[in-house]
Amino acid sequence: MAEAKTATLTIDGKTYELPILSPTSGPDVIDIRKLYAQAGVFTYDPGFTSTAACDSTITFIDGEEGILTHRGYPIDQLANDSHYLEVCYLLLYGHLPGPRELEDFERIITRHTMLNEQIHFFFRGFRRDSHPMATMVGVVGAISAFYHDSADVNDPAQREVAAHRLIAKMPTIAAMAYKYSLGQPFVYPRNELSYAANFLHMCFSVPAEPYHVNPVLARAMDRIFTLHADHEQNASTSTVRLASSSGANPFACIAAGIACLWGPAHGGANQACLEMLREIGTVERIPEFIARAKDKNDPFRLMGFGHRVYKNFDPRAKVLKESADEVLEVLGIHENETLKVAKELERIALEDEYFIEKKLYPNVDFYSGIILEAMGFPTSMFTPIFAVARTVGWISQWKEQLADPQLKIGRPRQLYLGAEERDYVGIERR
Ligand code: CMC
Repeated sequence: MAEAKTATLTIDGKTYELPILSPTSGPDVIDIRKLYAQAGVFTYDPGFTSTAACDSTITFIDGEEGILTHRGYPIDQLANDSHYLEVCYLLLYGHLPGPRELEDFERIITRHTMLNEQIHFFFRGFRRDSHPMATMVGVVGAISAFYHDSADVNDPAQREVAAHRLIAKMPTIAAMAYKYSLGQPFVYPRNELSYAANFLHMCFSVPAEPYHVNPVLARAMDRIFTLHADHEQNASTSTVRLASSSGANPFACIAAGIACLWGPAHGGANQACLEMLREIGTVERIPEFIARAKDKNDPFRLMGFGHRVYKNFDPRAKVLKESADEVLEVLGIHENETLKVAKELERIALEDEYFIEKKLYPNVDFYSGIILEAMGFPTSMFTPIFAVARTVGWISQWKEQLADPQLKIGRPRQLYLGAEERDYVGIERR
């Protein structure tokens, strides 16, 4: 048997042996759980750039090589050969489903897609011009008040029902947020449609006329869902885990994840990216924006470029690039100025010394916006669509965490740099 590896830390001449844990793949991890008790020091890592916050068996990323796997299966194989609900099953249960397991799972998800009718009143409380992410954060948090029979996190059977409900209801909530913003009637789900096709139906059909879902668009939608399904311990997933570590109910935890996803450095980047491409407008203006991205005194960044983990091409962006071509072809969009700007921007950035040196490659958000816009979605719906897709990742990680008998509440420590203890001064003496 291989000898257990340890790291040695010396503080003020005193030596501490720290165990090293070896993962299935990826770098070793120094176990510092007992460090404070033994040595009275904390470690310091704002932004978690060198910290593993948990162990997990769900998703693996090798950022240097541009590899992403779910339960061991490469993302390009899943995006090309599988489909979203099968990937949901894989993430939740750890293995690819057999035909019967898949059929049962699809039936369960399909049967949970409707919302309690009273939830409609929540939507009606929002202004029409609310961002759909604002509506989603509110409504998902609020559904804790409706599904009491699946809110006990200590009961594995209730956790299962909550997982199914959230995966099934999230597209309905996102589509309702969209319909509300348009002033159109809400569209109920249709059980004979696939998950992706049903989402398009709920977003784009109106009661006045029949709506047929284009199968190529349904496939592209399914691919976008699949490519966003999970991404290891990113900011929103870590938010869900932290919220859940206190024992909070699943709907509140997922609402916290949606709130975190909203920011432009995370899920909000797809909206920000398309807005940036539109602002650039023409290929001729690209050098001006590249120069701004490189200027240290300008806060501007090229949206859709760079990633905390990927220092190579984002494998999800590769698949989406093909999908973008397919969708534009089907929709007969050949002279799309935004796409021209995107392609040229990608070409120039990939050859530019600054981007090469900093290993800034296009990420998943670079192409998803182009596809979603071509399908007819406004930019404000891009991040809600990401939230729909990522719900299964949040829920799988949430389930994994709660099944761990060693679960502790997440409680980071700090490097305190504030005032030392001092006496209160009454207002008359200030
Ligand atoms: N444009 C120009 N410069 C950049 C960019 C960019 N998009 N991204 C990073 N840099 C530079 C940054 O200025 C820094 O330079 P220096 O070392 O000289 O200070 C260096 O690259 C490292 O950047 P960082 O901010 O320390 O890296 P990070 O790992 O903290 O940030 C990121 C990762 C994704 C927040 C960042 O690359 C970024 O803001 N990208 C644009 C937003 C975006 O597309 N986000 C979507 C991420 S993928 C989907 C998701 O996860 O939700």
